[in-house]
Amino acid sequence: MHHRWLLLLACFWVLFMLMVASKFITLTMKSPEAYGVRQASQTILPETEKITVTEGKKFHVEHQPTAEPSRSMSPVDLLHKKRLEMLQSVCRNESLGNLSHAIISKFVLDRIFVSDKHKILFCQTPKVGNTQWKKVLIVLNGLYSSIEDIPDNIVHDHDKNGLPRLSSYSISEVHERLDSYFKFLIVRDPFERLISAYKDKFLNNPRFEPWYKHNIAPVIIRKYRKNHSNIKGGLQFQDFVRYLGDPNHRFLDLQFGDYIIHWVTYVELCAPCEINYNVIGHHETLEEDASYILKEAGIGNLVSYPPIPPGITHYNQSKVEHYFSTVTKRDIRRLYKRYEGDFKLFGYKEPTFLF
Ligand SMILES: *[C@@H]1O[C@H](CO)[C@@H](O)[C@H](O)[C@H]1NC(C)=O
Ligand SMILES: *[C@@H]1O[C@H](CO)[C@@H](O)[C@H](O)[C@H]1NC(C)=O
Ligand SMILES: *[C@@H]1O[C@H](CO)[C@@H](O)[C@H](O)[C@H]1NC(C)=O
Ligand SMILES: *[C@@H]1O[C@H](CO)[C@@H](O)[C@H](O)[C@H]1NC(C)=O
Repeated sequence: MHHRWLLLLACFWVLFMLMVASKFITLTMKSPEAYGVRQASQTILPETEKITVTEGKKFHVEHQPTAEPSRSMSPVDLLHKKRLEMLQSVCRNESLGNLSHAIISKFVLDRIFVSDKHKILFCQTPKVGNTQWKKVLIVLNGLYSSIEDIPDNIVHDHDKNGLPRLSSYSISEVHERLDSYFKFLIVRDPFERLISAYKDKFLNNPRFEPWYKHNIAPVIIRKYRKNHSNIKGGLQFQDFVRYLGDPNHRFLDLQFGDYIIHWVTYVELCAPCEINYNVIGHHETLEEDASYILKEAGIGNLVSYPPIPPGITHYNQSKVEHYFSTVTKRDIRRLYKRYEGDFKLFGYKEPTFLF
C-alpha cells in the first residue's frame, strides 16, 4: 500500500517536471522571435548578459524609465545609459532653444547609412573616424570580405559601396527602419571638431577637395575678415569662427550646400532629439565605445573596428587654447551660443578657459 502511494507520488513528480521543462523550452524557443533577429544572434552570450542587453534595448527604444535598480548593469552599460538620459533631458529643456526638428528632413536622412542585413543605422558625423565605420558596415553588408580589401575610392561612393542612405527609401520604409533598427552616432568635443574641420578642409586638404580653398574660403573672407586691406592669404581660423558664430550664417550655408556637413551642429546633422539613438559614441573614448557599439548592435563576433593610432582621439585643451588665442571673446561667445546644444546634449564641458 505504502509503496503504491510512493509510486503515484513519483509519477506526479515526473509529470510536473515534464510540464515545467516543456514550458521552459517553448519560452526559450520563442524569445528570439519576440525580440527580433538581433537577439537571436546574441544567444552565444551568457544568460545574464543577454538579459541586460534586452533591458537596455527596451529602455532606449521605448523611452521607458527603468524602475529596475542598476544592480545588473555593468559600469559601461551604466555610462551609456547616463549619456542617453542626459540627451533626453537636454532635448526637453526649452531654455536651450530649438534643438528639435519639426520633421526629420531629407538632409538628415542623407546623413544616415543603412545596413539592412544587420538592421543597423549609422548617422555620419565627419571628423570622428566615420570612414572606418563605413568600412565596417560595407564589410558587414557583404560586398567585401575584409576592411583592407575596400578600395579608397569606393568608401564614399554610395552608388557602388552597397551602403545606401536612408533617404533612398520610401517614407514607410524609413519609419520602419527608424523604429526597429539599431541606431548610433559618434560625437566629439564641438570646438575640437571645428578645429579639425578647419585644418582638414582649409589648411591641409588631404583629400584634395580644392573647392574649400578656392570657392568657400574667399566667400567667408570677403564677408567676415575684419581687416579688409588684408584680403590676401588663406582662410584664418578667426574668419571661420566669425562665420560660424554669426546668427545669420544660414545665408552662406545655403550657398555652400552639403559641404557644410563638416561644421553644422550635430543637432542639424543627426536630429538626436527625434531619433532615439541606441548608443552615442564619443571620439574621446572611441576604442571602448567602438567595441560597445559592435556588441550592442549584435555584430561583435562578426567584425572589429580597425586599430586606432594611439593618442589621436584624446581631447587636447592646449590645442584648443592655441587656435582660439587669435579669436576675440565676443566671437568665441557667439560661437559657443551656436554649439551650446551640442555641448549640453552630449555632456561636453563648457570651455570656460576661453571666455
Ligand atoms: C536648462 O538649460 C539651462 C541653460 O543651460 C540650465 O540653466 C537649466 O538648469 C536647464 N534645466 C534643466 C531642467 O535641466
Ligand atoms: C526649429 O524650428 C523650426 C520651426 O518650428 C523648424 O522648422 C526647424 O526644423 C527647427 N529645428 C532646427 C534644428 O532648426
Ligand atoms: C590690416 O592689414 C594690412 C595689410 O596686411 C596691415 O598693414 C595693417 O596693419 C592691418 N591693420 C590692422 C588693424 O590689423
Ligand atoms: C596638443 O596639441 C599641441 C598643439 O597642437 C601639440 O603640440 C601637443 O603635442 C598635443 N598634445 C598631445 C598630448 O597630443
